[in-house]
Amino acid sequence: MEFDLTLRNGLVCTEEGLAQLDIGVKDGVIKALQTGLSAGAKDVDVRGRYVLPGGIDSHCHIEQLSGMGVMTADDFYTASRSAAFGGTTTIIPFAAQRQGDDLLEVVRDYAHLAREKSVIDYAFHLILSDPSEKTLTEHLPDVIAGGITSFKVYMTYESWKLDDFQLLDVLHAADRYGAMVMVHCENNDIIRWITRRLLSEGRVHPKYHAVAHDPLAESEATNRAIALSRLMSVPLLIVHVAGLEAVRVIHAAQVMGAPIYAESCPQYLFLTADDIDKPGVEGAKFCCSPPPRDPQSQQAVWEGLLNGTLQVFSSDHAPYRFDETGKLPRGDATTFKQMANGLPGIELRMPLLFSEGVRTGRMSIEQFVNLTATNHAVMYGLYPRKGVIRVGSDADFAVWDPELSKTVCWDMLHDNVGYTPYEGREVIGWPLAVFNRGRAVVEHGELRARAGDGQYLPCGEPAPITRNKKAIRQGLVVKKLFAA
Ligand code: URP
Ligand code: ZN
Ligand code: ZN
Repeated sequence: MEFDLTLRNGLVCTEEGLAQLDIGVKDGVIKALQTGLSAGAKDVDVRGRYVLPGGIDSHCHIEQLSGMGVMTADDFYTASRSAAFGGTTTIIPFAAQRQGDDLLEVVRDYAHLAREKSVIDYAFHLILSDPSEKTLTEHLPDVIAGGITSFKVYMTYESWKLDDFQLLDVLHAADRYGAMVMVHCENNDIIRWITRRLLSEGRVHPKYHAVAHDPLAESEATNRAIALSRLMSVPLLIVHVAGLEAVRVIHAAQVMGAPIYAESCPQYLFLTADDIDKPGVEGAKFCCSPPPRDPQSQQAVWEGLLNGTLQVFSSDHAPYRFDETGKLPRGDATTFKQMANGLPGIELRMPLLFSEGVRTGRMSIEQFVNLTATNHAVMYGLYPRKGVIRVGSDADFAVWDPELSKTVCWDMLHDNVGYTPYEGREVIGWPLAVFNRGRAVVEHGELRARAGDGQYLPCGEPAPITRNKKAIRQGLVVKKLFAA
């Protein structure tokens, strides 16, 4: 038979737009994309359904210790399973280097965990918290050659944060080796100073997390990170943008022609600081950094996603259980400072955006696909193998029912967290079946894949880096300090 799988009559979203097409798959790759294809060994009619590229979630923390040393609730099996049920076929979590860690060992350890357990394909970013000479000049080139071509750095969290000098070192190394730097922008001293004042006054409730993480801490650090990136003429991707002012700062830099890219996440569209203000410690379920803010910031993030200021929509899945092992190390007496920061969202990322973005008419289906899949592949060096439905690409897609309505409750999800911040929300539009390299991962509400079925994806040079190099060659960007 010509095809292992033929998916017929779906409304397929390709890079040319939406069209009713058949997809023919052989050996995990899309071989044909037209009407009237011959029968496949597996032949499925999906008339009336959307067929969208499998999502890429390029920001998720899996089987990782937080800055405060708390282990995430999900391992590579439960996180990848949950991602798949939400329409995602590729995850890009972090191999996280803690201070003093040997980078090569870190990468080896995370690679082992993912290889054994992931049900869908995966790549990695690094978290760099110890950018020593050895890390940057000896280990990093090997790691990048092995396909990890992006890394996250932090401007806050005592155990993760880099100072500006170290950030410049990291930008310089990224430039030399052709890697993308992702940065968590919050001013550590602002947060530390407000936190100390609040705690000394006995203000310990979770709602003070949002007070300590003031929007100015975010926008100041965003502006500073951009200044460092401009000084070095090195692209930068600002992760989990939450606040109105941060969106404005990013937009202003882009208008000046700086190669600044940005990401946001469901918590900044669908939650506000009011959600943290719940009785007792319940609000801990909504504490992440930066925190959800106000309706004006939600609006700015929506606009940023729609007008291209923000190019990627990720989950920042950082799941901690609502007990002593996770959010509440001191039980009901846990202060906002002691709560693990981070929210689950790997399964609901795409359904929430589909429901509130596409269904409401705010965004086109093509914008949805770009924000949840294609732009991630471009940004991190996986395009066009991943993130698109085209001949020659991996057969990664999800069949969506745009009319299916469900009320979210944690019991219907497939993570190991025990709650969801989106409990009770009505969501219209869900993936019914999910295929990764032509394998059914989710079908008829069941998981069809096994632990270890996912494949490691070595990333190439991120496209914005290539683009920036071209711009430099053409003299559009002036290198001020160092030759690459
Ligand atoms: O609160 C968050 N976002 N926790 C996860 C770690 C990070 O900063 O992304
Ligand atoms: Zn972060
Ligand atoms: Zn994160």
